[in-house]
Amino acid sequence: MKLFVDTGSIRDIETIAALGILDGVTTNPSLLAKEPGEFRENLKKICDIVKGPVSGEVTATDFAGMMREGHDIAAIDEHMVVKVPLTRDGIRACKALSSEGIRVNVTLVFSAAQALLAAKAGAGFVSPFVGRLDDVATNGMDLVREIVQIYDNYEFSTEVLVASCRHPMHIVEAAKMGADICTCPPAVIEALFNHPLTNSGLEKFLKDWEKARAVKA
Ligand code: E4P
Repeated sequence: MKLFVDTGSIRDIETIAALGILDGVTTNPSLLAKEPGEFRENLKKICDIVKGPVSGEVTATDFAGMMREGHDIAAIDEHMVVKVPLTRDGIRACKALSSEGIRVNVTLVFSAAQALLAAKAGAGFVSPFVGRLDDVATNGMDLVREIVQIYDNYEFSTEVLVASCRHPMHIVEAAKMGADICTCPPAVIEALFNHPLTNSGLEKFLKDWEKARAVKA
């Protein structure tokens, strides 16, 4: 399963990329708006660091505007993926951009029916938002299971990009279901490392080693 980081922070992306476990990046207008600098230049820097798929989202809501912004985003770097919302114009733009060979990530997906539309429109990625579903007392991971099954049934090539991940169990569950990718905030990637038995085990190994060396010295 691939791991993407969901942030516009170049510093955080550099830190996580240095671990050697980062496959890509997702951004959205809220995330990019928080960062200093021009967003196209920031996206270019992110592509240079990650050298994997980097999603940049259109802010236009009409087909013509999405196409214009989509071309603009795709021109930033070969790694750019154009993110469009799951609306009628978004699906139309997804079909048109995909037909031109531009990779598209269909975002703000909250139902299996919507995921089916994204695959039919040739999306490279579909982004079900699991955390936001959990927030409204609906199991987000149930949606991921449905999408994986539907895509398997028809051998759609669209990759299931589990988004809005809030904790490590979202990632573990997604991996068990066979989802292709999880995108998570930096803090959730950090949390994947943590286990108290690793910390206490390492502490004991080092203590025992030092004790034995002191006796031998
Ligand atoms: C995905 O592409 C989105 O940027 C993201 O995962 C949204 O997550 P949130 O619900 O934590 O804002």
